[in-house]
Amino acid sequence: MIHEIVIYPDPRLKHISEAVTAFDGELHTLLDDMYETMIAKNGVGLAAIQIGIPRRALIINIPIEKEEGEPPEQPKENTLEIVNPAIVWRSNEMVKFQEGCLSVPGYYEDIERHAMVTIEYQDRYGERFVIEDDTFLSIALQHEIDHLDGKLFIEKLSYTKRKKFEKEWKKRDKKS
Ligand code: CO
Repeated sequence: MIHEIVIYPDPRLKHISEAVTAFDGELHTLLDDMYETMIAKNGVGLAAIQIGIPRRALIINIPIEKEEGEPPEQPKENTLEIVNPAIVWRSNEMVKFQEGCLSVPGYYEDIERHAMVTIEYQDRYGERFVIEDDTFLSIALQHEIDHLDGKLFIEKLSYTKRKKFEKEWKKRDKKS
């Protein structure tokens, strides 16, 4: 089922999500719904709180680039389902990537994050895994895990950029 996305400045986005304790059908439905919703909105990642569910669960599906003119593919089997993640290591090296967020639609900005992270997490069955990554996935993981702690990428903007963003966002709110 496709859910509505919680949009900034909805206070739910500041909520600190709670650990998943039951790896049951309800969790599986949540993860399946998150995939459907993310695909419907052309996203590459989604945290449960973004559909209003305060649980420590997120998904990431990095699109496979196809030939020019063809849309990139995000098959369900490529979806990384991450439950109860913990960042256990971060590189000192930082990198900048352009980020966006389904909860802040239409806004993109370069954000600095750790180049490499190691993450421990559980899958939908509760089995434990470790990911170590230094590609775009590392950035996506840091962005989505921030959502579980009630943080948005716009909080990492400089004071000036944040002011400009808030001004533009208010204008946009009035229009819609
Ligand atoms: Co986001």
